[in-house]
Formats: sequence, structure tokens, C-alpha cells
Amino acid sequence: MKREFYELGELESRAVKLFGISTGTKIDEMFWKVERKDDGFIKKPLGGIPFLSVINITGLPDSGKSVLAEQFAVVQASRDYKILFVTVESPANFLYTSMKAKAEYLGLDFSKILKNVIVIDASMNDEFRENPKALMDTMAYVIREKHTNNVIIDSITGLYEHKEVMARQIVRTFFNFLKKWKQTGIFISQKRSAQIAESAEAAGGLAVAHIVDGTIVLDKKLVATRWDSNLYRMPVGSVLRTIRIDGCRLTGHDSRTWVFEITPGGTINIISPLEEYISERAGGSSIE
Ligand SMILES: Nc1ncnc2c1ncn2[C@@H]1O[C@H](COP(=O)(O)OP(=O)(O)OP(=O)(O)O)[C@@H](O)[C@H]1O
Ligand SMILES: [Mg+2]
Repeated sequence: MKREFYELGELESRAVKLFGISTGTKIDEMFWKVERKDDGFIKKPLGGIPFLSVINITGLPDSGKSVLAEQFAVVQASRDYKILFVTVESPANFLYTSMKAKAEYLGLDFSKILKNVIVIDASMNDEFRENPKALMDTMAYVIREKHTNNVIIDSITGLYEHKEVMARQIVRTFFNFLKKWKQTGIFISQKRSAQIAESAEAAGGLAVAHIVDGTIVLDKKLVATRWDSNLYRMPVGSVLRTIRIDGCRLTGHDSRTWVFEITPGGTINIISPLEEYISERAGGSSIE
């Protein structure tokens, strides 16, 4: 019979180790753990998203969600970890081209990526998108046969298009599935037009954010007014991209908003916290 309660001590042997799974970006240093040093405590970067966590990446269209997830995939694959990439939006052949470009730009061994990234194309398969059980059966098969370590679903919101009342149940089912199969996961969630860009909310409301272990919010701001232009020291019409860890219940994290760019190779380069970015561009003086 399944146990229904435990003394905390009985859970020791099953406790999850706290360490990072690298994304190949500065996010790796934005999650940390606290360690005792001398007579105080220090923050030690985790080196990635927490092992066995399920992290939600949300943001408006074109904010860089897929870029970040694909970078995570190629970086992990080049280190000989296996990734299951469930593509719900973009057909699998586009994924090939974009991962190849990233690997070349980052100087990674593409031959490793070719064999370590396993793709399920749900973009072309109605049954996978409409029937979570069918998709999970195939995912379980891949996880078992290919011994994957990480799962990316781009996007989880694409699995409840037209049935957002089901959001919670579907997200919970996939979340539990990844926990059961001991996978570190990334769920991408798209926003609806009415949702605030810099919030954790996405299609299905806060369903994804409430269930997952942590949320990363990507945002894209158009420098539209003279005020913006003066503040950011960027020409009107340019785009300022930002990234922020909105929350993580497994470990400590930086909670500032950071500025990033998408490089010509289609990778994420996190530059500095927004406040520093602004004051540096203002020549070190703060702007009233
Ligand atoms: N190789 C590249 N060079 C320059 N910019 C790129 C490159 N690849 C992607 N981008 C930029 O990244 C943006 C797309 O980001 P991405 O596909 O990650 O968006 P997304 O957040 O996944 O959007 P959606 O919700 O529509 O899927 C593009 O609009 C483009 O500006
Ligand atoms: Mg995308």
C-alpha cells in the first residue's frame, strides 16, 4: 500500500540534491544556495536552474522564450546530457536550423547535439495537442528508451488552446509526469494580449506559475517616447529586452530585472541589471 505519511527523517534518503543545470546564460548565476563560511553565510551560484525543477518561461511573442529554451537544449546536449524537446508551436525542421545556428555561434559540437536532442513534433500532430495521455505515452517511451535528463515543452499553453478552463489540470498532469520520471523541465507559456507583459501570468491565468517550481519572465519594451529615450539612452524605436526570475520555491535567486540582447547567432546574452544599465549609460550619474 502506498504510504500516506512520513516522518521528515524518513525522507532523507530521497531528498533532492540542490545543484544547477546550466542554461549557458547568466541565469546560471542568478539562482543560488546559501552556504556557511567562516562565521557567516555566503551566496553560492547554483550554476543553472535547479536540478529536477520545472521552470516556466513566459513572455509576449518574440520575447525570446524559444531562444532561451533552445540554448539550454544545445548547451546540455553538447555536455552529453539528453534532452526531450516537445515542439508544439514550431515544426521540428525549424528547430534543426535554429539549433545548428546556435551550436555554431557558441562553438559547440553539433554532432553531439544531433544525437542528444530528441524531438517530438506535436505541431503537426493533432492528437498530441488534443490528448495529453497520447503525448505522455510517447514522452514516457522516449524518456525510457533514450534515458533523457531534461524535458522542454514549447509551449505548454499550446496544449490547451481553446480549452483554458483545463489549464490547471493539464499543467499539473505534465508537472507530475516530469517529477515521476525525474526530469529537469522547462515549460514555455505564451501570454494572451490582455495580460501584463512583466507578470508571471499567461494563457490559462496563473495556472502555470502556481504549479511549477519557478517562473522566468522575458519582456520586450519598445522605446516609444522621448522620456524612454532619455531614460535608457536609446533611440526612439529601439527595443529593450529584459529578463527576471519571478519566483522559485526551491532555492534563492536574484530578483532584479536584467537587460539582455539576442545575439546575431540567436543566443541570449544577459548584460546587466536594469538599474546599472541605466546609470552606466547616464555616465554614472543617476537620473531623476
Ligand atoms: N539569429 C538571430 N539573430 C537575431 N535575432 C534573433 C535570432 N534568432 C532569434 N532572434 C530574435 O528573437 C526573436 C524570437 O524569439 P523567440 O522565437 O524566442 O520568441 P518567443 O518568445 O518564443 O515567441 P513566441 O511566443 O512567438 O513563440 C525574434 O523575433 C528575433 O528578434
Ligand atoms: Mg516561441
